[in-house]
This record gives sequence, structure tokens and C-alpha cells, in this order.
Amino acid sequence: MDTYLIKKSDVTRALTMKDCFEVTENAFRYYGEGAVQMPPKSYLYFADFSGDLRCMPSYVAKIEAAGIKAVNVHPNNHNVNLPTVMASILLIDPKTGFPLAVMDGTHVTNMRTGAAGGIATKYLAKKDCKKAAFIGAGVQAETQVAAMFIARPKISDIAIFDISTEHSHAFAELCQEKYKVNVEVADSITAACADADVINCTTSARKPIVMKSDVAPGAHINAIGADAIGKQELEPAILKAAKVVIDDWVQASHSGEINVPVSSGEFDRKNVAAELGETIAKNLKVRESDKDITVFDSTGLAVQDLMTAWHVYKQVTRGSDKDSLQTVQIFG
Ligand SMILES: NC(=O)c1ccc[n+]([C@@H]2O[C@H](COP(=O)([O-])OP(=O)(O)OC[C@H]3O[C@@H](n4cnc5c(N)ncnc54)[C@H](O)[C@@H]3O)[C@@H](O)[C@H]2O)c1
Repeated sequence: MDTYLIKKSDVTRALTMKDCFEVTENAFRYYGEGAVQMPPKSYLYFADFSGDLRCMPSYVAKIEAAGIKAVNVHPNNHNVNLPTVMASILLIDPKTGFPLAVMDGTHVTNMRTGAAGGIATKYLAKKDCKKAAFIGAGVQAETQVAAMFIARPKISDIAIFDISTEHSHAFAELCQEKYKVNVEVADSITAACADADVINCTTSARKPIVMKSDVAPGAHINAIGADAIGKQELEPAILKAAKVVIDDWVQASHSGEINVPVSSGEFDRKNVAAELGETIAKNLKVRESDKDITVFDSTGLAVQDLMTAWHVYKQVTRGSDKDSLQTVQIFG
């Protein structure tokens, strides 16, 4: 039997943000319904090489989908001409354990991370949003903005701050061209966040960079950047004042935006308003007024990767599309 090799170009061709949004929303819904087997991410730390590897398995019985993602973070990789983050996904047939496909997981990761921010915006932000701020204008910002416009298509103004002005301007150009909105490259985080209804944070900061005084009443914040021990982007006072929605307690307390305040005792489980999955599955009303501040703390769930990768697998292996794919007899 053959195993499909699904390259980044195949994934990119098969996956739109609209589909990824829908599939990822279902992933959170299934997780909220308790229909997903998913142990927390496990980490290997390559201390000698300033990098780590995360292993992320999951199984969704109701769609008979199983798999595992292996994803690294090596911030010094630019020295050897490799990306910081590279992910591979292995899809497994739960009936037999046979490896159905090996797939590029990097694009899947970026897309499902953007989709998660968009879904959180859909459920947590005010209905009427006009301005969005982007703190960090790298790879994740591109998918965050795509999913945000699915959730709140009437946003008319975007403000961007990145420590790299080159990144800020490149992202500003992309936003202007693709979404035809007013775009400002701000000279500070305070200026970017002023009056913003949605704040998307996608930096690799290890100290708070968005302060409570930067956040307008009613704002929704997607805290995407912190996904490892010691990383944080928000002043803990924001978390205290906000309704905080996480993707998973074990992962968020270990490595999400809340990990540093949890370890210092400033924040604990009773300060969490809900998980995103249960918010969707139980139709919870987290936001009570247009003055509430809401925060989504994203660490990234294995089931987001699995459901997105499964969707890609189904798309590229149907009909004659599969003829262009490479295959390998892995046990040959
Ligand atoms: N939550 C998740 O599921 C998830 C998924 C993927 C990546 N991430 C995390 O998101 C972060 C961003 O990932 P990426 O792929 O976009 O990386 P990237 O390197 O492409 O972009 C990060 C951007 O942040 C900017 N930046 C760094 N520090 C800053 C600061 N103090 N103030 C303003 N800008 C700053 C950088 O200049 C860069 O443009 C990383 O920390 C990554 O680990 C989280």
C-alpha cells in the first residue's frame, strides 16, 4: 500500500482560509464536546542548539481521523537558511494504524493558527468592530488578518506595530492590497492599540509589551505569540481585568499567555472564563457588554492540525487530483 507525500505546494493549493476557518471551528467544537483524544503537547528541549521539538497527537473518532504533528522552534535557524518553525504531519488510519500520508505541516500550522484567532474574534469580540491593531507583523499576522476579516468583514482601519519597520511596511502593503482598508504603520504599541476593537498579538516577546493602559474598553485581544514557557506579550493586569478564554488549561498554564502569571501565582484556573471549545459547543455568552475586555490565549491544539490536515488530505486525494501526488511504499 502507498503512503501519500503531500508537499507545501499541494497544501497551499487545497486549503483556503474560509475552509480552514470552518474546519478549525469544528475542531474546537468537537474538543468542547469531549469528542477528541488529545494528550497535551510534549516538548523536547535541544538546549545545546537553542531549539525545541513539540509532539502533538490527536484522534477524532467521529470522523475516523488520527495523526501526529512534529513541530520545531529554532530561532537561530536563519543562520543556516532554514525557517524558525518547520512542521510535519503524519496521518494515520485509525482502523489499522497504516500511515496514510506524510504532509507539510508548516502551512497547516500557520492557517489553523490564523483561523483560531478569527474564530475567537467571532465568538468574543464586539459585533461592531471598526479598528484592528496588529502587534507583530510576521508570518502569523498574515493568517490572523485573513481569518479576522471572515469574522468581522466590516473592519475598516488597521494599525500595525512591529520592532522591524521593514516587517511593518511589508504587512501594511499586503493589508492595503488584499483588504482595501485604511492602514497605518504606528510608531508605538500605544498608538497602534488606541481605540482598537481587536488587538492581534503575534510576537515572540518574552516580556509584556502591551500594557493595560493601551487597551480600550471593549477590546478583544488574540494572544497568539506566547506558546512556550517564559513567553508573554500582555501585562498581567490585562488578564485580571479581562474575560480570559483559553484553548486548553494544561497547555495554556504550561506555555500560553497565562503561563508566567500562573507560575508567579498572579493568575489561576478560577480566573479563566471558559475554553474556546466549550464556548462554541455550549454556545456560552462570554462577553456581557461592549465594555468587556476579552482575551483569547492560544497555544495551538493538535486537533486543529489534525482536522485541517485531514481536510487537505481529502481534497488532494479525491478524483484525478491524486494522480499528481507523490507516493511511497514506506514499508517496501
Ligand atoms: N499560538 C499558536 O498556536 C502559535 C502558532 C504558531 C506560532 N506561534 C508563535 O507566534 C509567534 C510569532 O510567530 P511567527 O511565525 O509570526 O514569527 P515571525 O518571526 O514571522 O514574526 C514575529 C514578528 O514579531 C516581531 N517582534 C518580535 N518581538 C517584538 C516586540 N517586542 N514588539 C513588536 N514586534 C516584535 C518580529 O519583528 C516579527 O516580525 C512566535 O512566538 C511563535 O512561536 C504561536
